[in-house]
Amino acid sequence: MEFQLTKLQKLIRKATRELTEKEFKPIAQEIDETGNFPKENVEKLKKYNLLGMNIPKEYGGAGADDLSYVIAVEEISRYCATTGVILSAHNSLACWPIYYYGNDYQKEKFLVPLAKGEKLGAFALTEPNAGSDAGNQSTTAIKDGNKWIINGTKIFITNGGAADIYIVFASTKKELGAKGISAFIIERNTPGFKIGKIENKMGIRGSATAELIFDNVIIPEENLLGKENKGFKIALKTLDGGRIGIAAQALGIAQGAFDETIKYIKQREQFGRPIAKFQSIQFTIAEMKTKLEAARTLVYNAALKKMNYHDYSLEAAMAKYYASDIAMEITRKAVQLHGGYGYTKEYDVERMMRDAKITEIYEGTTEIQKMVIAANILK
Ligand code: CAA
Ligand code: FAD
Repeated sequence: MEFQLTKLQKLIRKATRELTEKEFKPIAQEIDETGNFPKENVEKLKKYNLLGMNIPKEYGGAGADDLSYVIAVEEISRYCATTGVILSAHNSLACWPIYYYGNDYQKEKFLVPLAKGEKLGAFALTEPNAGSDAGNQSTTAIKDGNKWIINGTKIFITNGGAADIYIVFASTKKELGAKGISAFIIERNTPGFKIGKIENKMGIRGSATAELIFDNVIIPEENLLGKENKGFKIALKTLDGGRIGIAAQALGIAQGAFDETIKYIKQREQFGRPIAKFQSIQFTIAEMKTKLEAARTLVYNAALKKMNYHDYSLEAAMAKYYASDIAMEITRKAVQLHGGYGYTKEYDVERMMRDAKITEIYEGTTEIQKMVIAANILK
């Protein structure tokens, strides 16, 4: 099925597809093997105005719409899911909350360099004891005159090892629980802020997933994002958008695995004919294609809802739940249809299957998406 894409959306599809085929696909395996953060890819994202692409031009962005952004994440994730999530975390989780909740000073100081791609962003909510239960924050921020003092540890932060600007959540009124959380903007070079362990992961191995340590980090009061004690809502609203980005990443991974499989089954011969001639294989690709298009409909629909300023929490959760589910299923089937070769690093589908798994976990696990969907239905 074809969504009625605008001229610009089609152009962005074409440009990001070419960029991915030419620049990202050839080094995707190397990034996977070394686990190194792909600085050269981030430079390319900057050159193509993709970092901050959906932020208005007046703040340094490219002024693209949300569907264009989703298409870019999808295309890039077809062959490099590491670069896909670097882009998604930067745009959805770092640029967007400053654009939406920031004041003029914060937009000028932090959003403009992020949206121009001069600086990289990250979003730090998760802690050792606050994963799905994100409201259970242990990191604290204490007001001291016109400053805040931050103490605590965040884990699993995408771009964490490479970012310049971090959106950090901390408890500002412990006794209020999730109603006593605030959001802060913290710069990397602030004294007391250290990057801890970089995770050695199953997939998206180059995304610099880091532990962040805050040891008496002093920041000016101007770095409070939004209102004091309203940070949990900022986190959840930001994640509504972020989940559309991850759904697009899942869709892209699934599409990449599907495309590789179609090529393979046409050329691989067994029993004297291409394996594509076997009905059981034809049925499998029919199922894959149908689920891929169903996922695309959900993902694009969520992006359109966001673009038109409707509440998109339900659509984002459904898109993320379904697209990540089928990304896992399609990549698993892609490996199966490649037989033993699919289990080796000679073929991209092995990496794609490992990359797909994270889309069921981060930005809220599948179980959390179902909770959000049910809560939206029953409210
Ligand atoms: N937008 C704004 N406000 C919202 C909201 C939304 N989407 N959803 C709920 N709220 C409000 C509620 O109305 C409520 O407000 P009141 O107290 O005024 O009534 C408040 O927020 C708290 O809501 P809940 O009571 O529903 O909160 P909860 O503690 O039960 O948690 C949850 C809800 C959905 C489970 C939430 O904790 C959650 O989403 N957990 C998953 C965490 C997550 O997704 N982490 C991702 C980290 S980032 C990441 O992973 C990035 C990456 O990989 C690249
Ligand atoms: P847990 O919350 O401990 O969940 C364990 C299991 O229990 C899951 O299956 C879960 O679904 C289930 N479960 C928990 N509660 C319930 C319930 N109420 N009902 C049913 N089942 C439940 N965080 C950030 O803040 N920023 C980032 O940039 C970021 N990037 C990440 C990148 C990677 C590679 C990874 C692995 C994680 C990242 N995260 C990030 C953290 C991620 O969002 C969390 O890992 C995720 O939300 C799950 O939390 P948890 O790992 O603590 O699992």
